[in-house]
Amino acid sequence: MNILAFESSCDETAVAIVRDGRTVLSDAVLSQAKEHALYGGVVPEIASRKHVEAIAGLTDQALTEAKLTRQDVDAVAVTYAPGLIGAVLVGVSFAKSVAYALGVPLIPVHHIRGHIAASYLAFPDLAPPFVALAISGGNTLIVHVRDYTDMEILGSTRDDAAGECFDKAARVLGLPYPGGRPMDELAQKSAGGKYTLPRAYVEGAELDMSFSGLKTAVVNLVHTARQKGEELDEAALARDFACAVSAELVPRAMRALEITGCRKLVAAGGVAANSVIRSDLESACAAAGASLYLPPLRLCGDNGAMIGAQGYYEYLAGHTATLDLNAYATMDPGKSK
Ligand code: KG4
Repeated sequence: MNILAFESSCDETAVAIVRDGRTVLSDAVLSQAKEHALYGGVVPEIASRKHVEAIAGLTDQALTEAKLTRQDVDAVAVTYAPGLIGAVLVGVSFAKSVAYALGVPLIPVHHIRGHIAASYLAFPDLAPPFVALAISGGNTLIVHVRDYTDMEILGSTRDDAAGECFDKAARVLGLPYPGGRPMDELAQKSAGGKYTLPRAYVEGAELDMSFSGLKTAVVNLVHTARQKGEELDEAALARDFACAVSAELVPRAMRALEITGCRKLVAAGGVAANSVIRSDLESACAAAGASLYLPPLRLCGDNGAMIGAQGYYEYLAGHTATLDLNAYATMDPGKSK
């Protein structure tokens, strides 16, 4: 089954074709990061407008790269939640038109379910049940994936997402947007151990997280040092910051394995590209005797292939939509419509 998949929830326009949920025939991604860098973050209206410009051309590109014609498309999958609503609407509207014109099923896919499904592409033998640590620019979740379309949130951030925290810390250090990768590169130049940063604990919810205090602490630390004319070891700060984020995420993901009895941990989302987090996950899983599934960096960020992968399993579960499908800015991945 060839699924033509669309992703436009943030600042990447992505169109892919995936066969039977596991084989990527093409994966065209156009990042708008340069457009938003000027403003230090994603500007929603610019994102929507750039999706409108790019989506048809990327669809042609995806078909050409897959060496398929429109008649070879068996179904259309699209991210319909969560995300910047104007941006998601572009993908949903276009996908509906394509499904309507071709007379094929329309499959709505939750963006986080898609991020988790990226690992089905990287690891052909991976199957639920497992625990997923989904960490991106807008979401930070620990999810119990009981089956391909049956999942439950075990823990989530109470405020900022881990990626938002990386981006704002990077901005105060004068690094370009999106800041996660430049922060990671800077952190690799130091062993850290110089700056003490706060850790958060949510009373009565051991798997919930909080990143806003950490974000504010870094911003204040940098401003105070500059006001006092003190020299800042930026590489050490980047390293200590990454360790602080990792210390929020990794022990809780391991605790989720204990609680659920799962032996497999899947990392997902753009922040899963972080080298400190990856290495901490590797050590923790090795110590616990658990299997770790870390997708390659290109599958961590937003892409259409992950939507095609999850779309296949949604289709098998009978989760197709009629042409009155809407887009949603927020939605629990466990309660996907
Ligand atoms: O999954 P993604 O591409 O988009 C969303 O769905 O949000 O994640 C983007 C986020 C950004 O905040 C970016 O700074 C962060 O992932 N990111 C990283 C790294 N690479 C990307 N954060 C930390 N370390 C990295 N190496």
